[in-house]
Amino acid sequence: MGQGTSQTLAPLTARAGWKKLQQHSASMRDAHLRDLFAADAKRGERMTASGAGLYLDYSKNRVTDETLQLLVQLANEANLRGRIDAMFRGDKINSTENRAVLHVALRAPRGEKIVVDGEDVVPKVHEVLDRMAAFAQRVRDGSWRGQTGKRIRNVINIGIGGSDLGPVMASEALRHYATRDMTFRFISNVDGTDFVETTRDLDASETLFIISSKTFTTVETMTNAQSARKWLLDQLGGDESAIAKHFAAVSTDAAKVSAFGIDTKNMFGFWDWVGGRYSMDSAIGLSTMIAIGPEQFREMLAGFHEMDEHFRTTEFSKNLPAIMGLLTVWYVDFLNAHSIAVLPYDQYLKRFPAFLQQLTMESNGKHVTLDGRTVDYMTGPVYWGEPGTNGQHSFYQLIHQGTHLIPCDFIAFAKSLNPIARHHNLLLANVLAQAEALAFGKTAAQVEAEGTAKELVPHRVFEGNRPSNMILADHLTPKILGALVALYEHSVFTQGAIWNINSFDQWGVELGKVLAQRIAPELESPSEPPLKHDSSTNALIRRLRADGRH
Ligand code: F6P
Repeated sequence: MGQGTSQTLAPLTARAGWKKLQQHSASMRDAHLRDLFAADAKRGERMTASGAGLYLDYSKNRVTDETLQLLVQLANEANLRGRIDAMFRGDKINSTENRAVLHVALRAPRGEKIVVDGEDVVPKVHEVLDRMAAFAQRVRDGSWRGQTGKRIRNVINIGIGGSDLGPVMASEALRHYATRDMTFRFISNVDGTDFVETTRDLDASETLFIISSKTFTTVETMTNAQSARKWLLDQLGGDESAIAKHFAAVSTDAAKVSAFGIDTKNMFGFWDWVGGRYSMDSAIGLSTMIAIGPEQFREMLAGFHEMDEHFRTTEFSKNLPAIMGLLTVWYVDFLNAHSIAVLPYDQYLKRFPAFLQQLTMESNGKHVTLDGRTVDYMTGPVYWGEPGTNGQHSFYQLIHQGTHLIPCDFIAFAKSLNPIARHHNLLLANVLAQAEALAFGKTAAQVEAEGTAKELVPHRVFEGNRPSNMILADHLTPKILGALVALYEHSVFTQGAIWNINSFDQWGVELGKVLAQRIAPELESPSEPPLKHDSSTNALIRRLRADGRH
Protein backbone atom coordinates (compact mmCIF):
# COMPACT_ATOMS: atom_id res chain seq x y z
CA MET A 1 0.00 0.00 0.00
CA GLY A 2 2.26 2.74 -1.32
CA GLN A 3 3.68 4.72 1.58
CA GLY A 4 2.68 1.70 3.70
CA THR A 5 5.66 -0.09 2.16
CA SER A 6 7.47 1.45 5.13
CA GLN A 7 6.80 -1.71 7.16
CA THR A 8 9.32 -3.54 5.03
CA LEU A 9 11.98 -0.82 5.37
CA ALA A 10 14.48 -0.35 8.17
CA PRO A 11 13.96 2.79 10.28
CA LEU A 12 15.36 5.83 8.45
CA THR A 13 18.28 6.48 10.79
CA ALA A 14 19.37 2.83 10.62
CA ARG A 15 19.77 2.83 6.85
CA ALA A 16 23.19 2.79 5.20
CA GLY A 17 22.53 5.98 3.20
CA TRP A 18 21.54 7.90 6.32
CA LYS A 19 24.64 6.77 8.22
CA LYS A 20 26.91 7.65 5.34
CA LEU A 21 25.29 11.08 5.05
CA GLN A 22 25.90 11.63 8.75
CA GLN A 23 29.60 10.90 8.35
CA HIS A 24 29.77 12.90 5.16
CA SER A 25 28.02 15.90 6.74
CA ALA A 26 30.77 16.16 9.35
CA SER A 27 33.30 16.76 6.59
CA MET A 28 30.92 19.08 4.73
CA ARG A 29 30.27 21.35 7.70
CA ASP A 30 33.43 23.31 7.00
CA ALA A 31 33.33 23.10 3.21
CA HIS A 32 32.89 26.58 1.78
CA LEU A 33 31.14 27.34 -1.49
CA ARG A 34 34.13 29.50 -2.39
CA ASP A 35 36.36 26.41 -2.33
CA LEU A 36 33.82 24.16 -4.04
CA PHE A 37 33.56 26.61 -6.93
CA ALA A 38 37.31 27.21 -7.06
CA ALA A 39 37.91 23.46 -7.34
CA ASP A 40 35.50 22.97 -10.23
CA ALA A 41 35.32 25.59 -12.96
CA LYS A 42 32.24 24.00 -14.48
CA ARG A 43 30.25 23.59 -11.26
CA GLY A 44 27.77 26.34 -12.16
CA GLU A 45 26.95 24.65 -15.46
CA ARG A 46 27.12 21.06 -14.27
CA MET A 47 24.92 21.26 -11.19
CA THR A 48 21.81 22.23 -13.07
CA ALA A 49 18.70 20.45 -14.29
CA SER A 50 15.77 21.35 -16.53
CA GLY A 51 12.20 20.21 -16.89
CA ALA A 52 8.74 21.49 -17.84
CA GLY A 53 10.14 24.87 -18.88
CA LEU A 54 12.03 25.42 -15.61
CA TYR A 55 15.80 25.61 -15.19
CA LEU A 56 17.23 24.80 -11.78
CA ASP A 57 20.74 25.88 -10.84
CA TYR A 58 21.53 24.09 -7.57
CA SER A 59 25.28 24.64 -7.74
CA LYS A 60 25.23 27.19 -4.90
CA ASN A 61 24.27 24.49 -2.41
CA ARG A 62 26.65 23.07 0.17
CA VAL A 63 26.95 19.77 -1.64
CA THR A 64 29.45 17.76 -3.62
CA ASP A 65 28.86 15.01 -6.14
CA GLU A 66 29.23 12.58 -3.25
CA THR A 67 26.48 14.37 -1.28
CA LEU A 68 24.14 14.03 -4.22
CA GLN A 69 24.98 10.38 -4.73
CA LEU A 70 24.29 9.68 -1.07
CA LEU A 71 21.01 11.60 -1.20
CA VAL A 72 19.95 9.54 -4.20
CA GLN A 73 20.94 6.43 -2.26
CA LEU A 74 18.71 7.66 0.58
CA ALA A 75 15.86 8.12 -1.92
CA ASN A 76 16.37 4.62 -3.26
CA GLU A 77 16.48 3.14 0.21
CA ALA A 78 13.19 4.93 0.98
CA ASN A 79 11.73 3.37 -2.19
CA LEU A 80 10.95 6.82 -3.57
CA ARG A 81 10.40 5.35 -7.03
CA GLY A 82 7.89 2.82 -5.69
CA ARG A 83 6.10 5.52 -3.72
CA ILE A 84 5.83 7.75 -6.78
CA ASP A 85 4.39 4.87 -8.78
CA ALA A 86 1.94 4.11 -5.97
CA MET A 87 0.68 7.71 -5.96
CA PHE A 88 0.24 7.86 -9.74
CA ARG A 89 -1.43 4.43 -9.71
CA GLY A 90 -4.08 5.65 -7.27
CA ASP A 91 -3.03 3.48 -4.31
CA LYS A 92 -4.48 4.67 -0.99
CA ILE A 93 -1.22 6.16 0.20
CA ASN A 94 -2.99 8.55 2.57
CA SER A 95 -3.23 5.67 4.99
CA THR A 96 -4.65 7.51 8.01
CA GLU A 97 -7.67 8.59 5.97
CA ASN A 98 -7.69 5.52 3.69
CA ARG A 99 -7.59 7.72 0.59
CA ALA A 100 -5.80 7.83 -2.71
CA VAL A 101 -3.73 10.96 -3.39
CA LEU A 102 -4.46 11.88 -6.94
CA HIS A 103 -4.00 15.57 -7.60
CA VAL A 104 -2.01 14.31 -10.60
CA ALA A 105 -5.30 13.01 -12.05
CA LEU A 106 -6.67 16.58 -12.06
CA ARG A 107 -4.27 17.40 -14.88
CA ALA A 108 -4.19 14.06 -16.67
CA PRO A 109 -5.04 14.56 -20.34
CA ARG A 110 -8.30 13.15 -21.69
CA GLY A 111 -7.89 9.50 -22.55
CA GLU A 112 -5.43 8.66 -19.76
CA LYS A 113 -6.66 6.08 -17.29
CA ILE A 114 -6.30 6.25 -13.50
CA VAL A 115 -8.46 3.83 -11.55
CA VAL A 116 -9.67 4.41 -7.98
CA ASP A 117 -11.97 1.84 -6.37
CA GLY A 118 -12.57 0.23 -9.75
CA GLU A 119 -13.49 3.48 -11.53
CA ASP A 120 -11.44 5.47 -14.04
CA VAL A 121 -11.42 9.00 -12.58
CA VAL A 122 -10.03 10.85 -15.61
CA PRO A 123 -13.39 11.13 -17.48
CA LYS A 124 -14.98 12.54 -14.29
CA VAL A 125 -12.23 15.16 -14.06
CA HIS A 126 -12.84 16.29 -17.63
CA GLU A 127 -16.61 16.31 -17.20
CA VAL A 128 -16.22 18.81 -14.34
CA LEU A 129 -13.66 20.84 -16.30
CA ASP A 130 -16.07 21.06 -19.23
CA ARG A 131 -18.92 22.20 -16.97
CA MET A 132 -16.64 24.76 -15.33
CA ALA A 133 -15.59 26.00 -18.77
CA ALA A 134 -19.19 26.46 -19.91
CA PHE A 135 -20.05 28.33 -16.70
CA ALA A 136 -16.89 30.45 -16.77
CA GLN A 137 -17.54 31.35 -20.40
CA ARG A 138 -21.08 32.54 -19.61
CA VAL A 139 -19.88 34.69 -16.74
CA ARG A 140 -17.04 36.11 -18.84
CA ASP A 141 -19.15 36.93 -21.91
CA GLY A 142 -22.00 38.39 -19.87
CA SER A 143 -24.64 35.85 -20.85
CA TRP A 144 -24.88 34.81 -17.19
CA ARG A 145 -27.07 37.49 -15.63
CA GLY A 146 -27.74 38.41 -12.04
CA GLN A 147 -31.18 38.76 -10.46
CA THR A 148 -31.78 42.25 -11.84
CA GLY A 149 -30.55 41.37 -15.33
CA LYS A 150 -27.10 42.92 -14.93
CA ARG A 151 -23.95 41.06 -15.90
CA ILE A 152 -21.49 39.89 -13.27
CA ARG A 153 -18.63 42.31 -12.59
CA ASN A 154 -17.37 40.98 -9.27
CA VAL A 155 -16.43 37.43 -8.35
CA ILE A 156 -15.83 36.69 -4.68
CA ASN A 157 -14.39 33.34 -3.65
CA ILE A 158 -15.29 32.43 -0.08
CA GLY A 159 -13.06 29.66 1.27
CA ILE A 160 -10.10 29.11 3.56
CA GLY A 161 -6.85 27.13 3.53
CA GLY A 162 -6.63 25.10 0.35
CA SER A 163 -9.96 26.50 -0.77
CA ASP A 164 -8.52 30.01 -0.71
CA LEU A 165 -4.73 30.18 -0.90
CA GLY A 166 -4.33 28.57 -4.33
CA PRO A 167 -7.02 30.74 -5.96
CA VAL A 168 -5.66 33.89 -4.25
CA MET A 169 -2.12 33.09 -5.34
CA ALA A 170 -3.22 32.30 -8.92
CA SER A 171 -5.35 35.43 -9.07
CA GLU A 172 -2.23 37.51 -8.42
CA ALA A 173 0.16 35.32 -10.40
CA LEU A 174 -1.98 35.30 -13.54
CA ARG A 175 -3.38 38.83 -13.34
CA HIS A 176 -1.61 39.68 -16.58
CA TYR A 177 -3.77 37.07 -18.35
CA ALA A 178 -7.03 37.90 -16.56
CA THR A 179 -9.99 39.81 -17.90
CA ARG A 180 -9.69 43.39 -16.69
CA ASP A 181 -13.39 44.22 -16.75
CA MET A 182 -14.14 42.13 -13.69
CA THR A 183 -12.79 42.20 -10.14
CA PHE A 184 -11.75 39.06 -8.27
CA ARG A 185 -11.77 39.11 -4.51
CA PHE A 186 -11.35 36.58 -1.72
CA ILE A 187 -12.87 36.25 1.73
CA SER A 188 -11.32 33.71 4.08
CA ASN A 189 -10.97 34.98 7.63
CA VAL A 190 -13.87 34.54 10.06
CA ASP A 191 -12.97 38.04 11.25
CA GLY A 192 -15.95 40.09 10.05
CA THR A 193 -13.55 42.75 8.84
CA ASP A 194 -12.58 40.51 5.95
CA PHE A 195 -16.18 40.28 4.78
CA VAL A 196 -17.08 43.91 5.37
CA GLU A 197 -14.00 45.42 3.78
CA THR A 198 -14.14 43.08 0.78
CA THR A 199 -17.78 43.80 -0.02
CA ARG A 200 -18.22 47.41 1.10
CA ASP A 201 -17.95 49.06 -2.31
CA LEU A 202 -19.69 46.35 -4.33
CA ASP A 203 -23.12 46.22 -5.93
CA ALA A 204 -24.78 42.89 -5.08
CA SER A 205 -26.63 42.82 -8.40
CA GLU A 206 -23.26 42.48 -10.17
CA THR A 207 -21.66 40.09 -7.69
CA LEU A 208 -21.17 36.32 -7.86
CA PHE A 209 -20.11 34.40 -4.75
CA ILE A 210 -18.28 31.11 -5.15
CA ILE A 211 -18.50 29.17 -1.91
CA SER A 212 -15.46 26.89 -1.97
CA SER A 213 -15.15 24.19 0.64
CA LYS A 214 -14.14 20.59 0.18
CA THR A 215 -16.16 19.52 3.22
CA PHE A 216 -18.74 22.33 3.22
CA THR A 217 -18.55 22.31 7.01
CA THR A 218 -15.62 24.64 7.71
CA VAL A 219 -16.86 27.19 10.25
CA GLU A 220 -15.08 30.18 8.75
CA THR A 221 -16.41 29.50 5.27
CA MET A 222 -19.94 28.68 6.35
CA THR A 223 -20.09 31.80 8.53
CA ASN A 224 -18.88 34.00 5.67
CA ALA A 225 -21.26 32.25 3.27
CA GLN A 226 -24.22 33.03 5.57
CA SER A 227 -23.13 36.66 5.77
CA ALA A 228 -22.84 36.76 1.97
CA ARG A 229 -26.34 35.40 1.64
CA LYS A 230 -27.72 38.04 4.00
CA TRP A 231 -25.72 40.85 2.37
CA LEU A 232 -27.03 39.87 -1.05
CA LEU A 233 -30.65 39.42 -0.02
CA ASP A 234 -30.61 42.68 1.95
CA GLN A 235 -29.45 44.55 -1.15
CA LEU A 236 -31.69 42.75 -3.62
CA GLY A 237 -34.98 42.94 -1.70
CA GLY A 238 -35.02 39.54 -0.01
CA ASP A 239 -36.24 37.38 -2.88
CA GLU A 240 -34.57 33.99 -2.30
CA SER A 241 -34.62 33.18 -6.00
CA ALA A 242 -31.61 35.55 -6.27
CA ILE A 243 -29.41 32.92 -4.61
CA ALA A 244 -29.37 30.73 -7.73
CA LYS A 245 -28.11 33.64 -9.84
CA HIS A 246 -25.47 34.90 -7.41
CA PHE A 247 -24.08 31.78 -5.72
CA ALA A 248 -22.06 28.87 -7.04
CA ALA A 249 -20.45 26.19 -4.91
CA VAL A 250 -17.34 24.07 -5.16
CA SER A 251 -17.34 21.04 -2.90
CA THR A 252 -17.15 17.28 -2.59
CA ASP A 253 -20.49 17.23 -0.72
CA ALA A 254 -23.59 17.87 -2.87
CA ALA A 255 -26.01 17.21 -0.01
CA LYS A 256 -24.51 19.95 2.16
CA VAL A 257 -24.41 22.39 -0.77
CA SER A 258 -28.09 21.74 -1.38
CA ALA A 259 -28.92 22.10 2.33
CA PHE A 260 -27.25 25.53 2.26
CA GLY A 261 -29.69 26.55 -0.47
CA ILE A 262 -27.36 26.55 -3.48
CA ASP A 263 -28.77 24.87 -6.57
CA THR A 264 -26.55 21.86 -7.35
CA LYS A 265 -26.75 22.89 -11.03
CA ASN A 266 -24.33 25.61 -9.91
CA MET A 267 -22.12 23.19 -8.04
CA PHE A 268 -18.78 21.92 -9.27
CA GLY A 269 -17.46 18.81 -7.61
CA PHE A 270 -14.19 17.23 -6.73
CA TRP A 271 -13.25 14.16 -4.79
CA ASP A 272 -11.82 12.94 -1.50
CA TRP A 273 -8.60 11.97 -3.28
CA VAL A 274 -7.80 15.67 -3.78
CA GLY A 275 -6.23 17.20 -0.68
CA GLY A 276 -7.29 20.80 0.06
CA ARG A 277 -3.76 22.16 -0.37
CA TYR A 278 -3.43 20.24 -3.65
CA SER A 279 -6.72 21.49 -5.10
CA MET A 280 -6.07 24.78 -6.94
CA ASP A 281 -6.24 22.88 -10.24
CA SER A 282 -9.58 21.21 -9.35
CA ALA A 283 -12.95 22.98 -9.37
CA ILE A 284 -11.50 25.03 -6.51
CA GLY A 285 -9.84 26.92 -9.37
CA LEU A 286 -13.22 28.12 -10.69
CA SER A 287 -12.45 31.77 -9.90
CA THR A 288 -9.09 31.34 -11.66
CA MET A 289 -10.83 29.92 -14.71
CA ILE A 290 -13.32 32.79 -14.82
CA ALA A 291 -10.43 35.24 -14.58
CA ILE A 292 -8.13 33.78 -17.24
CA GLY A 293 -10.61 31.79 -19.34
CA PRO A 294 -10.89 28.04 -19.88
CA GLU A 295 -8.13 27.81 -22.49
CA GLN A 296 -5.50 29.39 -20.31
CA PHE A 297 -6.68 27.31 -17.35
CA ARG A 298 -6.05 24.21 -19.47
CA GLU A 299 -2.61 25.59 -20.29
CA MET A 300 -1.95 25.79 -16.56
CA LEU A 301 -3.04 22.16 -16.21
CA ALA A 302 -0.69 21.23 -19.05
CA GLY A 303 2.19 22.81 -17.10
CA PHE A 304 1.28 20.81 -14.00
CA HIS A 305 1.13 17.65 -16.11
CA GLU A 306 4.48 18.28 -17.74
CA MET A 307 6.11 18.53 -14.32
CA ASP A 308 4.19 15.40 -13.17
CA GLU A 309 5.67 13.47 -16.07
CA HIS A 310 9.12 14.86 -15.41
CA PHE A 311 8.87 13.75 -11.78
CA ARG A 312 7.46 10.33 -12.67
CA THR A 313 9.94 9.43 -15.38
CA THR A 314 13.24 11.25 -14.80
CA GLU A 315 16.12 9.70 -12.90
CA PHE A 316 16.51 11.34 -9.50
CA SER A 317 19.87 12.95 -10.25
CA LYS A 318 18.20 15.03 -13.00
CA ASN A 319 14.75 15.28 -11.46
CA LEU A 320 13.91 18.82 -10.30
CA PRO A 321 11.42 18.01 -7.52
CA ALA A 322 13.53 15.08 -6.31
CA ILE A 323 16.68 17.23 -6.18
CA MET A 324 14.90 20.06 -4.35
CA GLY A 325 13.23 17.66 -1.92
CA LEU A 326 16.48 15.83 -1.20
CA LEU A 327 18.38 19.09 -0.68
CA THR A 328 15.76 20.09 1.86
CA VAL A 329 16.29 16.82 3.74
CA TRP A 330 20.05 17.44 3.60
CA TYR A 331 19.79 20.87 5.18
CA VAL A 332 17.15 20.00 7.76
CA ASP A 333 18.58 16.69 8.96
CA PHE A 334 22.31 17.05 8.41
CA LEU A 335 23.14 20.76 8.46
CA ASN A 336 20.66 21.89 11.13
CA ALA A 337 18.57 24.29 9.04
CA HIS A 338 15.07 25.01 10.34
CA SER A 339 13.57 27.11 7.62
CA ILE A 340 13.62 27.68 3.87
CA ALA A 341 13.07 31.13 2.35
CA VAL A 342 11.20 31.30 -0.96
CA LEU A 343 12.04 34.54 -2.72
CA PRO A 344 10.27 35.19 -6.01
CA TYR A 345 11.69 38.03 -8.07
CA ASP A 346 8.37 38.69 -9.71
CA GLN A 347 5.68 40.88 -8.24
CA TYR A 348 2.97 38.64 -9.68
CA LEU A 349 4.21 35.86 -7.38
CA LYS A 350 3.76 37.92 -4.26
CA ARG A 351 1.36 35.40 -2.68
CA PHE A 352 3.38 32.36 -3.75
CA PRO A 353 5.20 32.02 -0.40
CA ALA A 354 1.88 32.21 1.49
CA PHE A 355 0.44 29.49 -0.73
CA LEU A 356 3.56 27.36 -0.22
CA GLN A 357 3.29 27.67 3.54
CA GLN A 358 0.15 25.54 3.59
CA LEU A 359 1.40 23.18 0.90
CA THR A 360 4.66 22.47 2.68
CA MET A 361 3.87 22.83 6.36
CA GLU A 362 0.42 21.23 6.49
CA SER A 363 1.93 18.37 4.49
CA ASN A 364 5.19 17.73 6.31
CA GLY A 365 4.62 19.20 9.76
CA LYS A 366 4.41 15.70 11.23
CA HIS A 367 6.14 14.00 14.14
CA VAL A 368 5.17 10.36 13.66
CA THR A 369 6.00 7.91 10.89
CA LEU A 370 3.39 6.20 8.75
CA ASP A 371 3.29 3.35 11.22
CA GLY A 372 2.84 5.69 14.18
CA ARG A 373 6.34 5.78 15.65
CA THR A 374 7.71 9.10 16.92
CA VAL A 375 10.46 10.24 14.57
CA ASP A 376 14.02 10.61 15.86
CA TYR A 377 14.98 13.12 13.17
CA MET A 378 13.70 16.52 12.07
CA THR A 379 10.87 16.74 9.51
CA GLY A 380 9.26 19.62 7.58
CA PRO A 381 10.99 23.00 7.88
CA VAL A 382 9.26 26.37 8.12
CA TYR A 383 8.74 27.91 4.68
CA TRP A 384 8.44 31.64 4.40
CA GLY A 385 9.29 34.49 2.09
CA GLU A 386 8.42 37.69 0.31
CA PRO A 387 9.02 38.90 -3.19
CA GLY A 388 12.38 40.43 -4.05
CA THR A 389 13.53 43.13 -4.00
CA ASN A 390 11.33 44.10 -1.03
CA GLY A 391 12.75 41.36 1.19
CA GLN A 392 16.27 42.69 0.58
CA HIS A 393 15.39 45.85 2.47
CA SER A 394 13.87 43.93 5.33
CA PHE A 395 14.95 40.45 6.45
CA TYR A 396 17.85 39.58 4.12
CA GLN A 397 20.23 41.04 6.70
CA LEU A 398 19.59 38.00 8.88
CA ILE A 399 20.11 35.59 5.99
CA HIS A 400 23.44 37.25 5.09
CA GLN A 401 24.93 37.86 8.52
CA GLY A 402 22.72 36.16 11.11
CA THR A 403 23.43 32.92 12.93
CA HIS A 404 20.77 30.75 11.25
CA LEU A 405 21.42 28.72 8.14
CA ILE A 406 18.52 29.57 5.80
CA PRO A 407 18.64 27.94 2.37
CA CYS A 408 16.89 30.14 -0.18
CA ASP A 409 14.90 29.38 -3.30
CA PHE A 410 15.16 32.28 -5.74
CA ILE A 411 12.60 32.34 -8.57
CA ALA A 412 13.13 34.64 -11.55
CA PHE A 413 12.10 35.10 -15.18
CA ALA A 414 14.26 36.10 -18.13
CA LYS A 415 11.54 38.35 -19.51
CA SER A 416 9.18 40.72 -17.77
CA LEU A 417 5.48 40.89 -18.54
CA ASN A 418 5.76 44.63 -17.92
CA PRO A 419 9.01 45.70 -19.54
CA ILE A 420 9.36 49.36 -18.67
CA ALA A 421 12.64 51.26 -18.65
CA ARG A 422 15.46 49.42 -16.84
CA HIS A 423 13.24 47.79 -14.23
CA HIS A 424 13.68 44.20 -15.30
CA ASN A 425 17.44 44.36 -15.71
CA LEU A 426 17.70 45.85 -12.25
CA LEU A 427 15.42 43.16 -10.85
CA LEU A 428 17.51 40.40 -12.43
CA ALA A 429 20.75 42.04 -11.37
CA ASN A 430 19.47 41.98 -7.82
CA VAL A 431 18.46 38.33 -7.75
CA LEU A 432 21.82 37.28 -9.22
CA ALA A 433 23.67 39.56 -6.83
CA GLN A 434 21.88 38.17 -3.79
CA ALA A 435 22.65 34.57 -4.68
CA GLU A 436 26.29 35.50 -5.36
CA ALA A 437 26.66 37.49 -2.15
CA LEU A 438 25.07 34.75 -0.06
CA ALA A 439 27.34 32.07 -1.50
CA PHE A 440 30.68 33.86 -1.68
CA GLY A 441 30.40 36.67 0.86
CA LYS A 442 33.26 39.03 1.53
CA THR A 443 36.31 38.11 3.59
CA ALA A 444 37.99 40.24 6.26
CA ALA A 445 40.95 40.64 3.91
CA GLN A 446 38.68 42.04 1.20
CA VAL A 447 36.98 44.38 3.67
CA GLU A 448 40.35 45.60 4.97
CA ALA A 449 41.65 46.10 1.45
CA GLU A 450 38.82 48.58 0.91
CA GLY A 451 40.32 50.74 3.67
CA THR A 452 37.62 49.98 6.23
CA ALA A 453 38.38 51.15 9.76
CA LYS A 454 39.75 48.24 11.79
CA GLU A 455 36.95 48.21 14.36
CA LEU A 456 34.35 48.01 11.62
CA VAL A 457 35.91 45.10 9.77
CA PRO A 458 34.09 42.30 11.65
CA HIS A 459 30.78 44.08 11.13
CA ARG A 460 31.32 44.30 7.42
CA VAL A 461 32.47 40.75 6.82
CA PHE A 462 30.10 38.45 4.95
CA GLU A 463 30.93 34.85 5.79
CA GLY A 464 29.15 33.59 2.69
CA ASN A 465 28.48 29.87 2.33
CA ARG A 466 24.73 30.61 2.47
CA PRO A 467 23.10 28.17 0.06
CA SER A 468 20.48 28.86 -2.57
CA ASN A 469 18.65 27.39 -5.52
CA MET A 470 17.95 29.52 -8.57
CA ILE A 471 14.79 28.61 -10.46
CA LEU A 472 14.54 30.33 -13.84
CA ALA A 473 11.95 30.36 -16.61
CA ASP A 474 11.53 32.45 -19.71
CA HIS A 475 8.46 34.37 -18.56
CA LEU A 476 5.51 33.80 -16.26
CA THR A 477 2.66 32.03 -18.06
CA PRO A 478 -0.23 29.88 -16.83
CA LYS A 479 1.75 26.84 -17.97
CA ILE A 480 4.87 27.86 -16.05
CA LEU A 481 2.80 28.56 -12.94
CA GLY A 482 1.39 25.02 -13.16
CA ALA A 483 4.89 23.59 -13.49
CA LEU A 484 6.15 25.67 -10.56
CA VAL A 485 3.36 24.56 -8.23
CA ALA A 486 3.82 20.91 -9.26
CA LEU A 487 7.57 21.29 -8.64
CA TYR A 488 6.90 22.16 -5.01
CA GLU A 489 4.11 19.57 -4.64
CA HIS A 490 6.51 16.83 -5.67
CA SER A 491 9.40 18.24 -3.67
CA VAL A 492 7.11 17.98 -0.63
CA PHE A 493 6.27 14.40 -1.65
CA THR A 494 9.96 13.54 -1.91
CA GLN A 495 10.65 14.93 1.55
CA GLY A 496 7.68 13.06 3.03
CA ALA A 497 8.80 9.81 1.41
CA ILE A 498 12.27 10.08 2.95
CA TRP A 499 10.87 11.02 6.35
CA ASN A 500 8.35 8.19 6.05
CA ILE A 501 5.50 10.45 7.17
CA ASN A 502 2.01 10.94 5.80
CA SER A 503 2.20 14.19 3.80
CA PHE A 504 -1.52 14.07 3.06
CA ASP A 505 -3.38 14.22 6.35
CA GLN A 506 -3.64 17.20 8.73
CA TRP A 507 -4.83 15.95 12.12
CA GLY A 508 -2.90 18.77 13.75
CA VAL A 509 -5.56 21.32 12.82
CA GLU A 510 -8.35 19.46 14.61
CA LEU A 511 -7.84 20.18 18.30
CA GLY A 512 -8.05 23.95 17.95
CA LYS A 513 -11.23 23.63 15.88
CA VAL A 514 -12.90 21.47 18.57
CA LEU A 515 -11.88 23.78 21.40
CA ALA A 516 -13.15 26.83 19.50
CA GLN A 517 -16.54 25.13 19.12
CA ARG A 518 -16.60 24.71 22.89
CA ILE A 519 -15.47 28.26 23.70
CA ALA A 520 -17.78 30.12 21.29
CA PRO A 521 -20.99 29.30 23.26
CA GLU A 522 -19.16 30.09 26.50
CA LEU A 523 -18.41 33.58 25.18
CA GLU A 524 -21.99 34.00 24.00
CA SER A 525 -23.89 32.45 26.93
CA PRO A 526 -26.29 34.98 28.53
CA SER A 527 -25.63 33.53 31.99
CA GLU A 528 -22.21 32.96 33.55
CA PRO A 529 -21.11 29.57 32.10
CA PRO A 530 -19.29 27.00 34.24
CA LEU A 531 -15.73 27.10 32.85
CA LYS A 532 -13.59 23.99 32.95
CA HIS A 533 -10.48 25.13 31.06
CA ASP A 534 -7.10 25.93 32.60
CA SER A 535 -6.95 29.05 34.80
CA SER A 536 -5.47 31.15 32.00
CA THR A 537 -8.16 30.30 29.43
CA ASN A 538 -10.91 30.67 32.08
CA ALA A 539 -9.67 34.13 33.06
CA LEU A 540 -9.38 35.26 29.45
CA ILE A 541 -12.93 34.10 28.70
CA ARG A 542 -14.24 35.99 31.76
CA ARG A 543 -12.35 39.10 30.74
CA LEU A 544 -13.74 39.04 27.21
CA ARG A 545 -17.26 38.27 28.46
CA ALA A 546 -17.06 41.34 30.67
CA ASP A 547 -17.04 43.26 27.43
CA GLY A 548 -20.74 42.38 27.11
CA ARG A 549 -20.67 40.23 23.97
CA HIS A 550 -23.33 37.76 25.28
O1 F6P B 1 -8.18 23.29 8.71
C1 F6P B 1 -7.38 22.84 7.68
C2 F6P B 1 -8.18 22.49 6.46
O2 F6P B 1 -8.82 21.27 6.64
C3 F6P B 1 -7.28 22.47 5.24
O3 F6P B 1 -6.62 21.29 5.09
C4 F6P B 1 -8.24 22.81 4.18
O4 F6P B 1 -7.58 23.23 3.02
C5 F6P B 1 -9.05 23.90 4.84
O5 F6P B 1 -9.17 23.46 6.17
C6 F6P B 1 -10.41 24.16 4.25
O6 F6P B 1 -11.22 23.03 4.24
P1 F6P B 1 -12.52 22.98 3.35
O7 F6P B 1 -12.15 23.11 1.93
O8 F6P B 1 -13.16 21.64 3.65
O9 F6P B 1 -13.43 24.11 3.78
